[in-house]
Amino acid sequence: MATTFKLNTGAEIPAVGFGTWQDADAQENAVLEAIKAGYRHIDTARVYGTEKAVGQAIKKSGVPREELFVTTKLWNNKHHPDDVPQALQDSLNDLQLDYIDLFLIHWPVAWKRGDELFPKENDKAVVEDIDYVDTYRAMEKLLSSGKVKAIGVSNFSKAEMERLLKETSVVPAAHQLESHPWLQQPDFAEWHKSKGIHVTHYSPFGNQNEVYSKEGTIGKMIEDPVLVDIGKKYNKSGAQVALAWGITQGHSVLPKSKTPSRIQANLEGDFKLSDEDMQKIRGIDRKLRFNDSSADFGKDFFTDLDGKK
Ligand SMILES: NC(=O)c1ccc[n+]([C@@H]2O[C@H](COP(=O)([O-])OP(=O)(O)OC[C@H]3O[C@@H](n4cnc5c(N)ncnc54)[C@H](OP(=O)(O)O)[C@@H]3O)[C@@H](O)[C@H]2O)c1
Repeated sequence: MATTFKLNTGAEIPAVGFGTWQDADAQENAVLEAIKAGYRHIDTARVYGTEKAVGQAIKKSGVPREELFVTTKLWNNKHHPDDVPQALQDSLNDLQLDYIDLFLIHWPVAWKRGDELFPKENDKAVVEDIDYVDTYRAMEKLLSSGKVKAIGVSNFSKAEMERLLKETSVVPAAHQLESHPWLQQPDFAEWHKSKGIHVTHYSPFGNQNEVYSKEGTIGKMIEDPVLVDIGKKYNKSGAQVALAWGITQGHSVLPKSKTPSRIQANLEGDFKLSDEDMQKIRGIDRKLRFNDSSADFGKDFFTDLDGKK
C-alpha cells in the first residue's frame, strides 16, 4: 500500500509525488508513465511550463480526478493580490482541471507585475514591493471558491514562516523545500511538525539534478556509501534509500525522472527505514544546499537555515 499523510485540512497527500521541473517536452509521456506506474501525486508549477503536459497526461490516463493529488505554484510575477485569482485560473486552464489540491507561493519574492516570467533590467530581476503576507492572504480567499483545496508555501526561511503564522489566519498545509540526506535540517523539520505543517522534499536526490553544478568535485549524493550500504539490507538503491529517509520522517518526496525504469524504481522508494538506519543517515548531513537563487532572484533567501553560505 502506498504511504499517505494527512494534511491539516484533513486531506490525504501521497508520500511520493512526481516532479515535473525540466524536460518539458518529455513531461506528457513521463507523467502518463508515472500515473500508470501508480503515482497519484504530481508536482508542477507555472514557471516550469509543464502544466499543459500534466493536464494532457491526466486526461489520457483516465484516472478519476479525485484519486489524484495535484500541486501547482504561483510564480513571482503574480504576487500582487489582484493578480492571484487569474494566475490560479490560468494554471487550472492549462491543467484542464476544476481545482488543484495544493497551491503554493513558489518563492517569497515578488517581481514586476505582468506576463513576463523573468522580468529583467540590466540583467537583474525587477523586484516589486509586494509583501508575501498580502499574497498569502489573497490565496486564503481562494479556498472558499473550491478551486483550491489547500494552500502553502515553498522556499521560506524560518523567520518568514513565523511571520506568516502570526499575520495570517490559515496555517499553511505544506512547505515544499529542498531536503535530502546532505541537507537534513532536523530542527526546521521538527518546527514544522509542531505547527502541523506538512513538509515536502524537493530535489530528494541532492545533486543529481544536472543544474546543481558542484557534483564534479564532491560526487553524487545517491552514491554516498552510507546510503548504498543501507540499501543492500533492503535490496534497494541509494536513491531509493534517500526517498525512504524522507518518508520515514513523515515527509513527502518529489523525485523527478523522464526515464521509465527510474519512474518505476522511485515509486519503490516508498518504504520505512529502521531507527538505527535513520541514525546512520543522520551522520552524513553535509548541510549542502544546491538550490539557492539569491544571486539571480533579487532577494537573499534561507538566511536563517542550514546550508546558507
Ligand atoms: N519548489 C521549488 O522551488 C522546487 C525546486 C526544485 C525542484 N522542485 C520540484 O521537485 C522535483 C524534484 O527535484 P529535482 O528535479 O531538482 O531533482 P531530483 O528529483 O532530486 O533529481 C532529478 C534528476 O535525477 C535523475 N534521476 C531520477 N531518478 C533517478 C534514479 N532512480 N537514479 C539516478 N538518477 C535518477 C533524473 O534523471 P532523468 O529525468 O533523466 O531520469 C534527473 O536528472 C522537481 O521536478 C520539481 O517538481 C521544486
